[in-house]
Amino acid sequence: MYTTNYPLLIEHIMNEAKMYHTLLSKIENREPFTQNYIYEQEMFWNNIMKEHAEFIRGLLDPTEKELILTADRYAEEYEIIMRNYSNNPVSLTSTSLQETINFRNFKVTGEEGILSCKIRSIIIPLLADHVVREANHFIRILRSANENLSKTAY
Ligand SMILES: [Fe+2]
Repeated sequence: MYTTNYPLLIEHIMNEAKMYHTLLSKIENREPFTQNYIYEQEMFWNNIMKEHAEFIRGLLDPTEKELILTADRYAEEYEIIMRNYSNNPVSLTSTSLQETINFRNFKVTGEEGILSCKIRSIIIPLLADHVVREANHFIRILRSANENLSKTAY
């Protein structure tokens, strides 16, 4: 079967579906959400953000050199966050949050640029919108994790 989607994008979508299924099963079985689960979520979404940066990098027109470099830098920064994660996941929540707020803003600017035909790419506007909404979802998770951490600190 031929598709113009990257194989990684297909895997990315499958991983999101599997993660959502796991989440629903947990809720259905009334399993408690432990701190470890929050860290797993952080790891999962940091990796999703890294892949978004890679997809954006690869779907921009080759003339959009500046944006390609910026997307590539985000992919590298998420890679570094994930590499450092095993050392101390607690201290990386704020880093992930700040990184994802910046990346979300980059995505919003990208979506606006695509819709107004100011950015050249083969990114479907719905995909651009989808990656913004997933960044917002991750920001919400990170903010709630941050709140919980500050509650347990006192
Ligand atoms: Fe996604």
